Amino acid sequence: MRNYPESASESGQPILIASNNPHKTQELRRILDPLGLRVTTPEQIGLILQVEETGASFQENARLKASAFSSASGLVSVADDSGLVIDALGGEPGIYSARYSGPGLDDAGRYRLVLDRLRGVRGSARSARFVSAIVLVTPQGKELSVEGSVEGIIAEAPRGRLGFGYDPIFYFPSAGKTFGEMSDAEKDAVSHRGTALRRLAAALSDASAASILR
Ligand code: IMP
Repeated sequence: MRNYPESASESGQPILIASNNPHKTQELRRILDPLGLRVTTPEQIGLILQVEETGASFQENARLKASAFSSASGLVSVADDSGLVIDALGGEPGIYSARYSGPGLDDAGRYRLVLDRLRGVRGSARSARFVSAIVLVTPQGKELSVEGSVEGIIAEAPRGRLGFGYDPIFYFPSAGKTFGEMSDAEKDAVSHRGTALRRLAAALSDASAASILR
């Protein structure tokens, strides 16, 4: 999709990915590149910035990150805030997905904790969704925000070594696999982040929305 007007992403400045998470940065780049949006990373421009995620929603946290990175760099910045929402756990880990149970656990420790907490919960009662809120902010403070989600079931045991985070326990019924068993292309086509980013690109293909990049 390259039908939006000449913009920051195509002419001069690239869009900064407001994240220090290499897995997430890689996914964002992988999806945004073919959509025709030229991106850069904090590492590439030598920017070191940690943003406290004090928001009460995915969208608020994404906005905090995009605004902070945009102010610090002077670039249009795009942030994803995402997580796993599990119905049987009252929506946990949700916005706390990256730090579920506090620091000290790695990805595998966190998904094992989820599996422990779901012991005795069976079948469709293990319903869950990944949610991604994406917010793009300009140095002038203009903003565009989109969201994507994908429904699945928490597996009884981890499967697959691909992806990151909770991917090995997120079973995607129509593929008959966990996200940890899906290739990058398979995951991007259905994932919360893939959907949100395609919505962002579609919004930017609209001339009035694209004008925020100029
Ligand atoms: P954030 O940096 O606060 O948005 O953290 C998001 C966290 O949610 C990640 O660290 C993962 O634990 C989890 N998460 C988000 N998206 C995915 C995904 O696509 N696969 C697996 N885990 C994810």
